[in-house]
Amino acid sequence: MRIRVTANDLSVARADVAVCFAHEGDRAPLGLSDAKLRSELGRQMKAVSFKGAVGDRLTWNSNGKYAARRFLVLGLGPDRGKPSQVIRAAVARAARQAARVRAQRLAIAVPGMAGESDTDQARAAVEGVKFGNYRFEKYLSDPDRKHVSLLAVELCGQSRLGAARNAVRRGEITADAVCFARDLVNEGPSRMTPGVLARTAARQAKRYGMRCKVWGKTELARLGMTALLEVSRGSSEPPRVVHIVYKPKTKPRKKIVLIGKGVTFDSGGLNLKPASGMLTMKSDMAGAAAVLSAMTSLAQTGCRAEVHGLLGLVENMTGGDAYKPGDILDTYAGKTVEVGNTDAEGRLVLCDLLAWAASKLKPDCMVDVATLTGAIVVALGTEATGLFTRHPAIRDELLSGASAAGEKVWPMPMYDEYLALLQRGPADLHNIGGKWGGAITAALFLGEFVPRDLPWAHLDIAGPSFAESDSPEREAGGTGAGTATLIRWLESV
Ligand code: BES
Ligand code: MN
Ligand code: ZN
Repeated sequence: MRIRVTANDLSVARADVAVCFAHEGDRAPLGLSDAKLRSELGRQMKAVSFKGAVGDRLTWNSNGKYAARRFLVLGLGPDRGKPSQVIRAAVARAARQAARVRAQRLAIAVPGMAGESDTDQARAAVEGVKFGNYRFEKYLSDPDRKHVSLLAVELCGQSRLGAARNAVRRGEITADAVCFARDLVNEGPSRMTPGVLARTAARQAKRYGMRCKVWGKTELARLGMTALLEVSRGSSEPPRVVHIVYKPKTKPRKKIVLIGKGVTFDSGGLNLKPASGMLTMKSDMAGAAAVLSAMTSLAQTGCRAEVHGLLGLVENMTGGDAYKPGDILDTYAGKTVEVGNTDAEGRLVLCDLLAWAASKLKPDCMVDVATLTGAIVVALGTEATGLFTRHPAIRDELLSGASAAGEKVWPMPMYDEYLALLQRGPADLHNIGGKWGGAITAALFLGEFVPRDLPWAHLDIAGPSFAESDSPEREAGGTGAGTATLIRWLESV
């Protein structure tokens, strides 16, 4: 998809579909300077009593009066919310709508709302168009079932072209990374095994000039990543840990570690999941996908920190050698863990990586991204990520990254009182808490493997990482959740 930024008014843009937007109550679309076109579309809006609510749309065939064959006016809803987020979502809807008429060339009048810079809004439009255009259809053989992908997009009416182009470039990098994460999640789990994901990571690292090491079972045993290895015992797919290092051209401002949960399929292990709960568990590597994808952006955006990515790649299965409820595990950190439930495997993978990274890499801060608990989905629903941290500075940084990215991230507590729920039984820790507060006890478990004074945050993306059905803004399947938040955060350090 080629994206151009121009000063053109929508009235002269050549496109299959020309899109503009209106808030509730607006009498004409926003962002048009041509008075004739504005009043023409205003008349059309009136004729069909276009309200401008989110989801409202109006199509008008220009019949040769304008360079664009067809105009599309989309409702933005009432005039509230963060402009870039309103635009990102609206443009994604526009791209999906354009696909229905098999459009290949799209022109967009970015409204330019008050309260945020035009360049931020242009970037959001680019992200929206790429998110809306995304499909996973490499396994469709019938060409009629494939959607017509957008080839050319023109962002019209831009004033500071240089700045807008830079913002657009960053939007493309971000959206491409998010879509790459979606691709990884959408693959079938027997294709996207730990070995395949590790090779994919190594290829990406090489492509973007990053160092990359892949550890197999022998090295992991030698390193002492015992808990991670225990999870993988029930699978015939060998485990992998990937370590990618990005170094900036100039002296790094700080050293950051990103850790991704990469359970390429979570059957639950011997505590087998019911069929309904297992259905989407190819997405249990979405944290690793987000970390890997975010890292591909670093060289392109010129990130100023040294960033280490660690992917913990295993399959949680029920083979004859599977780890069992009641097992007492050793961990890299030396703490012992009793397995209360083999389905609480993510924390066992992450605890070894967190402890290893803290002691060997000595970073300034760490962030892990994981589809860790069903409990966070109960708490926050399917659209929001839970953010757990004891460090206010990193909380604020990640929240502003999320806000710029347009992702919903909500801070959650880490009450030390609940630690007692994990401190029971014959081992130092039990791997599950009680019935309640499961997302919090999972975060507290991880926290036991990180020095208290090391700024660390945990993002539980179990809710937003996988969409079970299509929405007006995106296709069902992997969403790439967490990727854009990490990218925005890393752009700002
Ligand atoms: N991968 C799941 C969490 C999950 C649930 C992700 C739903 C996405 C959607 C995780 O490994 C898991 O199974 N967690 C258990 C923990 C429990 C056994 C303490 C859960 O949430 O039920
Ligand atoms: Mn599980
Ligand atoms: Zn899992």
